[in-house]
Amino acid sequence: MHPANPFPVDPDRLLAIAQKWGTPTYVYLENIIREQCRKLTGLFKNIPVSWLYAVKANDNPHIISIIADEGLGFDTVSYEEVLLCRKLGTDPDNIFYTENNMTDAEMNGAAKEGVILNIGSLDRLKSYCETWPGSSCSIRIKPDVGDGHHAKVDTGNQDSKFGIRMDLLKEAVALVDSHNVTIRGIHAHIGSGIQEPENLLYEINVLLEASQYFNSLEFINFGGGIPIPYRPDDDAFNLERFAGLASDRLQKYLDETDQKVRFYFEPGRWIVGSAGMLLTQVNTVKDQGRKTYLGTDTGFNHLIRPALYDAYHEIVNISANKDAPLRTYDVAGNICESGDVLGKERSMPESRTGDYLAILDAGAYGMTMASHYNRRAMPAEVLITEQGFHKIIRKRKSPEQSVEEYLQDTGIVQSENN
Ligand code: LLP
Repeated sequence: MHPANPFPVDPDRLLAIAQKWGTPTYVYLENIIREQCRKLTGLFKNIPVSWLYAVKANDNPHIISIIADEGLGFDTVSYEEVLLCRKLGTDPDNIFYTENNMTDAEMNGAAKEGVILNIGSLDRLKSYCETWPGSSCSIRIKPDVGDGHHAKVDTGNQDSKFGIRMDLLKEAVALVDSHNVTIRGIHAHIGSGIQEPENLLYEINVLLEASQYFNSLEFINFGGGIPIPYRPDDDAFNLERFAGLASDRLQKYLDETDQKVRFYFEPGRWIVGSAGMLLTQVNTVKDQGRKTYLGTDTGFNHLIRPALYDAYHEIVNISANKDAPLRTYDVAGNICESGDVLGKERSMPESRTGDYLAILDAGAYGMTMASHYNRRAMPAEVLITEQGFHKIIRKRKSPEQSVEEYLQDTGIVQSENN
């Protein structure tokens, strides 16, 4: 377990939740989510910085509401996320919508909602200008510097599909000018799980320099990507050091320019990652000769990060006798693919069928990336509130309900209401 992420809650509490509500179940801790938000909002003292939460990391409405209550706005990347935040009562000025191959219907829906639309291609900017002359929007720039915990989540590099090329900015300005559209902000996002803070500082410089192309900027958004430690020997991101370096640069900019801008950052993982875990039960203990597997009732359908990015999540047996001798296990899922392994060569107290495991640091990109692969039902979600109560924040569907719903959605059987 990482020293910066000590076991976040009494394991007996988790065990009681697993026994009462069944598994697989995602459990989130409200106090950690609030703590993480407060660390951010208190970070920059004299610089006008605002924080947006990247909804894609965890879009459970209860979690969005907690983060809204902490005063953060929202970074959204689909019209559906926009609608979700609007339905939960967020003011459109606090919703930033970074489009990605958006349709006309999505563009017009978002524009009508009045959210801040952040456009990432000249093609889309043109259609926006033609449809919404006289309005304003933001643009996403390709900063040509990328980072991330895996190549698949590096979004800023030269070959990235995201953002408008720097050498096309003049063209973008001419385009908006000819339609009386105002660029109210510029944005970039270099990637998720940033390894080198210097790359983020470099991107900040790129955007500050790019700001000279625009006359009436209200904000500059530097994106998200703040990492959390997952492995016991991962270094924790030094947020204070980063904020110190960024503050110096931003203050200098504010001193030297006439622009009255605000700055945004939009982290997701950092706020919810270590606040969540996935509880699962061991169904099978299997000695395969060179390896012993703990076979669980979840899999990469519910937590895809190990299979997709070779990501590491600490796994703790919360029901084993702590004094039992240590054994080495691979923790496998119940999906019909050999790649469905949640943790390899993990040292744990001797484990048995019926034991419960907690897969840690799974609050970000866990449930939001879950699927029905192998036609499995989704996990339930439980919130442990600040007051120490726990409540179901997404109900489990039984296998029977889940299959019934699928048959109805596909239209092969008619629901009684149709
Ligand atoms: N802003 C934009 C435009 C983004 O695309 C993202 C993440 C963020 C902010 C938030 O990044 P964060 O602070 O959470 O690193 N599924 C991957 C992560 C993909 C992130 C995609 N974009 C994972 O499980 O590691």
